[in-house]
Formats: sequence, C-alpha cells, structure tokens
Amino acid sequence: MKTLLHIDASANVAGSVSRRLSAGFISDWLDANPGDAVNYRDLNAEVVPVVTSHLLEAIYSPPGTYLSEKQRSALSISDALVDEFLAADMFVFGVPMYNFTIPGSFKAYIDQVVRVGRTMGRGEKGLEGLVKGRKMLIISTRAGDYSKGGPREDWDFHEPYLRKIFGWMGIQDITYVPVMNSRNHADQEKRVVEAEALLRGTADRWNAEIQAAKAGNGTAVPNLAA
Ligand SMILES: Cc1cc2nc3c(=O)[nH]c(=O)nc-3n(C[C@H](O)[C@H](O)[C@H](O)COP(=O)(O)O)c2cc1C
Repeated sequence: MKTLLHIDASANVAGSVSRRLSAGFISDWLDANPGDAVNYRDLNAEVVPVVTSHLLEAIYSPPGTYLSEKQRSALSISDALVDEFLAADMFVFGVPMYNFTIPGSFKAYIDQVVRVGRTMGRGEKGLEGLVKGRKMLIISTRAGDYSKGGPREDWDFHEPYLRKIFGWMGIQDITYVPVMNSRNHADQEKRVVEAEALLRGTADRWNAEIQAAKAGNGTAVPNLAA
C-alpha cells in the first residue's frame, strides 16, 4: 500500500482548474489502486502559518530548554506537516501561478516542511535532502503562456523554483505539468484535455515503476516515515 499526499493551493474553490485536474488524477489513481491511502490538504481552507520567531526559537533551542506555549504550538504545527510530508510515497500538488511564481500559501507550506534534522541533513558538502525515492507531480495552471522558447519563458519563476527546492530536498522524480491559458481563454478546455492526457501518462508510468519495484527489477519507493 502506498500513501499519496494531495495538496491544493488555489485560492479559487469553485471553477479552479488545478483543483479539477489534481482531483481527477487522485480519483483515477484510487480506481486503479483502491488500497492506497490519500492525505489531503487544502491550503485555502486551512491556511498554514508563515514561519515566525517562535518556530525558529523552538527548533534551535538546545534539547531540554523550556518552550513557551507559542513556541510549542509553532513547533507542533511544523512537526505535523513534516510527519505528513515524510509519510508520503507520492505527492500530487495543484499549484497555480500567482504573480509569476507560487501562491504565498504554498510558500508558507514549503517553509514549514524544509527542516534540518527532519527533511534535510548535514552532509560533507553542506545541507542535503533526506526525502529520497519519492515521486512528485506538480500541476501548475496559469492564465498566460510561458512556453519554453516563447517570449515569456523567463517570466516563469514557478517551475524553476519548485524543481530546485524539492530537488534539493532529495526528490528526483518530479513531473511538472504546466497548463497554459487556463483561465478565460478560447484554448482553456483544449489545454485541460492535453493536461489530462499527460496526467494519465504519469499515472501509467508510476504504476509500471511501482510494479517493477515490487517484482524486484526497478527502483523501490521507500517510506522514510515507516
Ligand atoms: C493572485 C493571482 C495572481 C495571478 N498571477 C498570474 C501570473 O502571474 N501569470 C499568469 O499567467 N496567471 C496568473 N494568474 C491567473 C491564474 O494562474 C489562473 O487563473 C489559474 O487558472 C489559477 O488556477 P486555478 O484555476 O486552479 O485557480 C493569477 C491569478 C491570481 C488569483
């Protein structure tokens, strides 16, 4: 049995294209893998706090230090998010582009789960990611077109950032599906249909790799939290 972590970051609830696509992927996945578990997090319904001094003080205090209620509370929120992150074998994130990058809600989430000693370790060359052997799917809607080779390619601070931060955390298998012209555009439905085909292809690949790992002739998907 595998565990998926499904997160939606769109501030739009009704009519969100990223929510529709991420939910469709999860629904199809569970049809094919009914024994798998899904943890769902909606960053609009339950806003993750930004990192404050309370969290930093709690993390960096020597063991045994008395922590205030605010410090304990900040630490327990981050701990729970990290536990949930590490429990996932696969990640499915619906993350629209806001102002050429990710929504603030998703940045707050990332700041909570990048934790030295939990998801990051200290190696010979400095900090290195501990979150190995997982698969990640990022569905990114955007009203504009930032295609590779196009005039606005270098306006996209979304894909490079997410590939960098999650890659740094140790996740090597990242599938990024950009959905251009996702809002109020004649192409919208065509782009969604194209994205759905890419999502089906991703699910097929993940399933094939998981079966191969089970048969002993592929890369296993270990669960660090187990
Ligand atoms: C606050 C905000 C900022 C946005 N910034 C951009 C942007 O920089 N580039 C872009 O192409 N679209 C931008 N959009 C449009 C969204 O990316 C687009 O509507 C997308 O479909 C949102 O995803 P959703 O349908 O899942 O909510 C922005 C929308 C909002 C609400």
